[in-house]
Formats: sequence, structure tokens, C-alpha cells
Amino acid sequence: MTPQTLENKPAKKILVTSALPYANGSIHLGHLVEYIQTDIWVRFQKMQGHTVHYVCADDTHGTPIMLRAEKEGITPEALIANVHKEHSADFEEFLVAFDHYYSTNAPENKELSQGIYNKLKAAGKIATKTIEQYYDPVKNMFLPDRFIKGECPKCHAKDQYGDSCEVCGATYNPTELINAYSAVSGAAPVRKETEHYFFKLSECEDFLKEWTRSGTLQGEAANKMGEWFESGLNDWDISRDAPYFGFEIPDAPGKYFYVWLDAPIGYMASFKKLCSDTGLDFDEYWNKDSSTELYHFIGKDILYFHALFWPATLEYSGYRKPTKIFSHGFLTVNGEKMSKSRGTFITARSYLEHIKNPEYLRYYYAAKLNSSMEDIDLSLDDFVARVNSDLVGKYINIASRTAGFINKQFDGKLLIPSTYPSVVQEIKNSAKFIAECYDAREYSKALREIMRLADHANADIAESAPWVKAKQGDSAKTELHWDCSRALEMFRLLTLYLKPVLPLLAANVEKFLNISPLTWGSVDDSLVTGHQIQQYEHLITRIDPKLIEAMTEANKENLVATPQVAAPVAAQAVASALPEAEYISIDEFTKVDLRIAKIVNAEHVEGAEKLLKLTLDIGEETTRQVFAGIKSAYDPATLVGRLTVMVANLAPRKMKFGMSEGMVLAASDERGGPFILSPDVGAQLGMRVK
Ligand code: 2FM
Ligand code: ZN
Repeated sequence: MTPQTLENKPAKKILVTSALPYANGSIHLGHLVEYIQTDIWVRFQKMQGHTVHYVCADDTHGTPIMLRAEKEGITPEALIANVHKEHSADFEEFLVAFDHYYSTNAPENKELSQGIYNKLKAAGKIATKTIEQYYDPVKNMFLPDRFIKGECPKCHAKDQYGDSCEVCGATYNPTELINAYSAVSGAAPVRKETEHYFFKLSECEDFLKEWTRSGTLQGEAANKMGEWFESGLNDWDISRDAPYFGFEIPDAPGKYFYVWLDAPIGYMASFKKLCSDTGLDFDEYWNKDSSTELYHFIGKDILYFHALFWPATLEYSGYRKPTKIFSHGFLTVNGEKMSKSRGTFITARSYLEHIKNPEYLRYYYAAKLNSSMEDIDLSLDDFVARVNSDLVGKYINIASRTAGFINKQFDGKLLIPSTYPSVVQEIKNSAKFIAECYDAREYSKALREIMRLADHANADIAESAPWVKAKQGDSAKTELHWDCSRALEMFRLLTLYLKPVLPLLAANVEKFLNISPLTWGSVDDSLVTGHQIQQYEHLITRIDPKLIEAMTEANKENLVATPQVAAPVAAQAVASALPEAEYISIDEFTKVDLRIAKIVNAEHVEGAEKLLKLTLDIGEETTRQVFAGIKSAYDPATLVGRLTVMVANLAPRKMKFGMSEGMVLAASDERGGPFILSPDVGAQLGMRVK
């Protein structure tokens, strides 16, 4: 027999994914928009009675992860294992309930990626081409565009990335940069030829045009596709040269799949592992003619990969294509891009440490989300106001004003007559509309309707005024019993509607009401006379705005006082001569992050009397730009290649000539200077001074 949903339609088999987060950073509130959006949708579909599998994984390959592991002195495998633990814990605590959370660095992914590549090759969709790329002669590696910096060929702004200029917005080829340098070693890159592998996307245009017409994309996304078709599809470079952390291309020693080739295949790999763990049939979901449904939730920034490369890859390797791709917009906080200096670049962990309750954020995001690709704003004041007024003031209020009477005066037992008044019926009647909103990802509409119903429930309670009847003794006892029981039935229904958004709270309500887990079909049930509820305990409290303040304060980049002495050694030497009040504690001193830095570039700053602009390498992924007042003592050319000491955690300062991202230590007084400090022979760039 075909399983049925609660609405008596055949149950669907659905596979859902969220984009795979990179394994080189923490989950932050921006990421959570998507995971919360997807999780709500998955929970809703499961409550409808559909069979849903929700999978995801860490996106583990590529140069940034390889370099970060190197910097931390660990293997990439160790790095991604640590991050996997961290990400998994963050998701679990935000109640994002993946059926499987995997890694792209897994045997299933290797096998699938290599298999897909072989099929594409057999279908004539792979070509090789010799290209010229920038190469770091010190690190002996080809440089991804993001790891090359230089002067913008259009507006001549200095220190721009190899793919686009942050000043004028131009996009270009890294080979067009003027005075390019490697952000890894600081060395001037050389141009070197290498053979790359390409997926012939240019041959997939007809298929993609057809596929776009099939209604798989939102209107805005389909328009974007139109623009891409108009500017023509280029073949896609899918290989990278060693050293690269990833999977080797079959029969191509030293060549690796570009991370974006095996990342979406990670969706399949994560599901494949779920299949082998649980006995599900992988082919049923991925066969070309599969009747199951496949949905990808993504951010609008990665539409190109999911709407062009991915369906084309699947088509020409003989797999099914996505049923729909759902793109969402970016998150702004207080109307602006998340910012470290404003303390609004908030990690999932920091939110949990300060605010604790993940369901506040789930509720707020849901209240803002719709099916479009528009950005959503987390206004922190509005967040507090909305959660306190909707969740506590409207929804929880229904139970907190009535449950105590049932517990105290009626032994926790309910009285429910055979017919309900219209207010209960009205709440039940909205089930279909609310379900349609969830299904269409119009969560803000769903929550508006739920809160409208909560207002009606509260009006009913206010009108029946149980607190007045409680004082009227026996004469009002039956009415009091009925009024409060009815309120709890309304509370049950609203809990059911909120359950996809607030699963933990709903589980606690189910315990309190002593009922089995609510599904969408529970709308047709009812609490009955004599039903025993549990003791009412506080289910949720108001957010204290002070917690928000503490959270943003804690996330503000540390401001470190400018050290007055030239170097730690000097500080110790003069310490005994200082008056008591001027001592600093060892803790204060260790806050200053002093590092050995290599000056990879030094130049005059037009219009600046005293400053030289230095580019410093301290072994991080990108170099630092520092303006130093040393022009009177140094010819810039003599500084290049020299090691010195810098304060690496000085808050970046906007200067007239650009951002200064740290400070170089130099000594001077009336006897002369400035003299830049140099470490002893043997010191290496990136070493900490302590
Ligand atoms: O943009 C990103 O964060 C990527 N790690 C997303 C990958 S999604 C999928 F294709 F793997
Ligand atoms: Zn520019």
C-alpha cells in the first residue's frame, strides 16, 4: 500500500540539502539563516507525513583549508575533524536536525566524484587546455585568484585581490593586476604554463535553457540565468595543480578536482552514507528517472554553481536533476553588513553563550523569511521586542494565564464540551492556509497568521476573565474550568502550528499537555474531558536586552593600547624604574600579539610627509598593510625582504591613505631614529614574540 500523508495524498519521498559550509571557519548568524530556513521546511514536511531526508556536510577541500592547516601546524585532516565537531555541535544546539552530516573528504565522495568525472569524460564533455597561471616561486604552488594581490588595472587602487577590486568593483583576470604579489609568501609571482581540465559547459547551453524553463528556479533566479546565457557560457576549469587538498583526477597525476567540482557531489555522498547506515536505496533517489524529489537550499551567491554547473554535471553523468533550487538573500544586522568592529559578526557559539535560547533566533528569522532572494535584516532591538511580544506576550501567555487554575482547582483535569465556540474553530480553520505558507517558504506570512490567532485566543481569555471567576467560588467553577480548558486547547493548536519553528518548545508543551508528538493531522484531534495535564512550569522567558549588549560587546574587535616601548625586552629592562602606577600586568602585556613579520613591499605614499606603506607577511592567508612613520630614515627599497616585529592585533585604523592593519615597532628619541626592530638570526616570519 502506498503511504498516505495526513491530507490523504500519497506521501512523497524527498531529499533536502543545505549548502555545505566551508571547514575553515565557524558557523555564524549569517549561515544560520539558511540552516534554520531549511530545517523549518524539513520539519514541516515531516509533520505532513512525507518521507524526508535532510543531509549536509562540511566542504573540506581547497587551498584556504590547506594553508590554514599548515599555519596551525596540523594536517588538513586534523583541521577538518576539529571543525566537523564544532559545526556539528553548533547545528545540534540550534536544533538543525540533519539526518546525516558528513564531510566532502569521505570515501563515498571520492568514488562518486571520480565516477562522475569518468562519465563526463566518456560523454565527451571534458577537454584539456594549457593555461598560464600565476605561480609562487617561494611556496612552489600555483596561486588561486584570491591569493594574488596587486594594483587594480582599472582604478590603480593598491593591494586588490586577483579577481576583483574592492575600490572600483572591477572584475578582471589576476594576470591583469599591476605589480602583483603572492599573499602567501609576498614574493612576486611568475607566470607559468600548466595543463588544466575543463568541463565543456559551453556545449550545455541548450540543455540548461530547457531546464531553466522547467520551473526549477525562482523568478529572480531564472532572470539571472537569462543574463548568464546572454553573456555566453564558458567552459569550466575543474582542475587544480598539486599541492592541493582534494581528490586526485583519475589518470592525471598531480591534478586535483577543484573544490567546487566535488562539493555538490558531497550532497550525494552524505546521502549515500545515510543509505548504507540505514538501508535506504541510493539509486531510488538519484537515478535519472527517479520519482523522488530533490531540493537544494542555497544562498544567492552560489546560484551560478547550483543552476549551471550542477545540473549540467548531473545531466551528462546520467543522474537526476534537482526538483527545485531555493535561493535566499544575505543577512544584515541592524541594517548593515555584519561587522567585527561593530560587534555584529556573531558566531553561533557566541549567540549560544550569551542568549542561550536558539529558538528566539529561529522565531525571529522565520518571522522575516519569505520565498524571495531578498536580504533579511536582524535588527537587534526588533529581535528583543518581537520575541518578547509575540512568543512570551501572546503565545505563552495563553497557557501561563490559565494552566495554574486547572492545576490547582481541578487536579490538572480538563473539561471539554462537545462543541467549541467559533474562536477555536477559527484557529482550526487556518491549518490549511498556514500549511500552504510553510510549504511555499512564506514563513513570515505563516507566523503573522499564527500571531493573529493568538490575539484572538487572548481576547477570548480576557473576555472570560478566569482570574475574576476564580474569586467567585462555586457559582463560576464550571465556567472557569471550561474557559481554561478551552484556552489550553487553543494553546495546543498554536503549538502545533509553531512546531516546525520551535521544536524544543513544542516538545516541552507536549510533555506539559501530556499528549503524543503533534503532527499536522493533530489539528483534527482535541483534548477531551478528563484529560490529565502536567504541572505548568515556565516554558520560556523574556530576552533581557542586556544580553544583546553583552553579546555585541564581546564580539567587538579588541582595541589594544599602543605600546609605548619599543619591544618586550626593553619593557622588562626599564620596568623597575617605573613608578607603580605605570606598571602593566603580565596579562595586559600578553594581550599584545607581537609577531615576526617580513616586509614584502615598501613604498612611498603620495602626499604623506612621514609615512611609508608597508606590506607585511606574518604567515597568515593574507598580508597586512601598515602605514609606518619611518619615511625620514628609510629608502623603501632597502626594507623589502627584511624581518621586523609588528603588533598584529592592533585594531585596524582608517587613515587618510587607507587602512592600517597593525603597527611596526621602531625605537627613537632625541638621539636619533626611527630604528625598525629586527629579530635575531634564525627567527622566522609568523613567530610570536613572548
Ligand atoms: O559557498 C560556500 O560556502 C560553499 N562551501 C558551499 C558549497 S555548497 C555545495 F555545493 F557543496
Ligand atoms: Zn579598481
